[in-house]
Amino acid sequence: MNQISKKSDNIEVPTNPIIPFIEGDGIGKEVTVAVQKIVDKAVEKAYRGDKKISWKEVLAGEKAYNKLGTWLPTETLDAFRKYLIGVKGPLTTPVGEGIRSLNVALRQELDLYVCLRPVRWFKGVTTPLLHPEKVHVTIFRENTEDIYAGIEWNAGTPEVEKVLKFLNEEMGVAKIRFPETTSIGVKPVSVEGTERLVRAAIEYAIANKLPSVTLVHKGNIMKFTEGGFKKWGYALAEREFPEDTFTENKFNKIKTEHGLDAAVKAYNKAVEEGKVFIKDVIADAFLQNTLLKPEEYSVIATLNLNGDYISDQLAAMVGGIGIAPGANINYKTGHAIFEATHGTAPDIAGKNIANPCSLLLSVVMMLEYMGWNEAGRLIINSLEKLFSQGIATNDLARFMKNGQAKSTSEFANEVILNL
Ligand code: NAI
Repeated sequence: MNQISKKSDNIEVPTNPIIPFIEGDGIGKEVTVAVQKIVDKAVEKAYRGDKKISWKEVLAGEKAYNKLGTWLPTETLDAFRKYLIGVKGPLTTPVGEGIRSLNVALRQELDLYVCLRPVRWFKGVTTPLLHPEKVHVTIFRENTEDIYAGIEWNAGTPEVEKVLKFLNEEMGVAKIRFPETTSIGVKPVSVEGTERLVRAAIEYAIANKLPSVTLVHKGNIMKFTEGGFKKWGYALAEREFPEDTFTENKFNKIKTEHGLDAAVKAYNKAVEEGKVFIKDVIADAFLQNTLLKPEEYSVIATLNLNGDYISDQLAAMVGGIGIAPGANINYKTGHAIFEATHGTAPDIAGKNIANPCSLLLSVVMMLEYMGWNEAGRLIINSLEKLFSQGIATNDLARFMKNGQAKSTSEFANEVILNL
């Protein structure tokens, strides 16, 4: 059997797993070819030929549309369902009403509820921060709920009129300022949706021996949705992980009942015992704090919209918006798609200058998810070495001290040489 499968809490990976991949549009082709070449070499080197990935191309985006007349063939979804994990290059978002974003469609079909974004700095990469080495954050962004659920009605339509009438007449909502010209969006946030996301973040922190999980929210304003996220997140930590976590909630309770000294003592004891500290922060303060004291944050659990903003800010802080990796995961079923976080870059497509690192680091996340950490480590070591020497594709090299710009294929060869 060459199929990865889910066995109770873990995934089982054969030595020669079939992994479906979507090449992607625009620069997708160039970066996918480069990444597969590097990953194959790293796996060969790490396991001396005992392990090997069998890549299986599946179609989506322009390539699928040109060949089959459909943007997202059912065979592609079936392959991701069957083989559990896969890789995706960037896809053009088809223009026109009624056509869903392919990325959103894939996430929804497989219920990939965690958008996972690790953020770290590579020595040599130019960034806007004085101390980018202090940034070591992993973001767990909820992927299926919130104002991003796509439940909205356009101003002036009979549908929005119906919703406004309901709100006004049945719910007593009188504070919509301009009802005649208002569009309405709905923000669903559930206990289940919150719990599965926060659970994944806490389990990740425990497994990787990380110091804290921060719940980032705007619960001060949106009390039942974002406030619910905070409340349910704390409750989950205290109920399901009492041995492995210590919450800010608990700290405050001890402080109220026994004074600050007792609370600090309890906190210090928890830190000594290696417990994960669960805390929370309001989203706007968090964005400021990440610039002023990034070392205070480790794992972040947040809602969909906050997570979107946070991911890009943190990636930019390490100079890596073009090299930021990402994955969309369902930890219950084991399904996961590892993807480039940038788009198809039509302005540079076909020029062999695209940076393959976003997809490459996403595939390193995949190797770690598979338990093939040794191969992932070889790639990271190679990148660290190259970046510290100023060797990179032009998008990074032009800002580096002694930067030497390489083409996509030259850079891939350099990574392989330094594995
Ligand atoms: P983009 O990310 O494709 O490009 C933005 C800028 O970054 C461009 O100047 C581009 O040259 C540069 N860039 C992006 N990736 C790069 C790389 N690997 N190496 C060097 N430079 C890179 O965003 P844009 O232009 O807004 O979107 C183009 C298309 O991509 C649209 O159809 C959009 O819907 C789609 N898109 C797809 C995504 C996905 O599949 N996950 C994500 C974002 C956009």
